[in-house]
Amino acid sequence: MKKKDKIRILFVCLGNICRSPAAEGIMKKLIEENGLEDAVEVDSAGLSDWHEGELPDSRMRSHGRRRGYDFCSRSRPLERADFERFDYIIVMDSSNYTAALSLARTDEDKKKLRRMTDFSSRFSYDHVPDPYYSGASGFELVLDLLEDACGGLLDFICTEISRNRKGIL
Ligand code: 4NP
Repeated sequence: MKKKDKIRILFVCLGNICRSPAAEGIMKKLIEENGLEDAVEVDSAGLSDWHEGELPDSRMRSHGRRRGYDFCSRSRPLERADFERFDYIIVMDSSNYTAALSLARTDEDKKKLRRMTDFSSRFSYDHVPDPYYSGASGFELVLDLLEDACGGLLDFICTEISRNRKGIL
């Protein structure tokens, strides 16, 4: 089978200003720390265009900053073409899953959809809760869940990279 130049991951939430840009920032840091920048590409998108062009929510940015992250992507809506560009489209909750599924055209597209919490190891949540109307504890919980799941996702991606290098993806 044809080898891919990179594995491409897209994180998706509703507004693309809280959960998915945080997942993107956390995952990018892990990728850098593990020297995998040439092998993995990460981006994020939203299921709405409500905040298109905006930086992540200031609360998410400041909670992230305290843990050493710089969340600085600009919000953009998910589009059908993302199913062609990305290998994994990772959503935060069931409503994201249903909305993203409606943009998937083929079985191959559908297989790219994953839930962030599928990669959790320390937590047993089945979704990453929307923090938009929550207080500080909601944002801290999101970061706890995302840091845990990004660790699991990194392990999964490392296995994919070695399979890809052997040409068995
Ligand atoms: P996100 O959070 O989906 O994690 O980016 C939200 C951001 C904005 C809104 C809802 C959720 N909103 O209603 O504008």
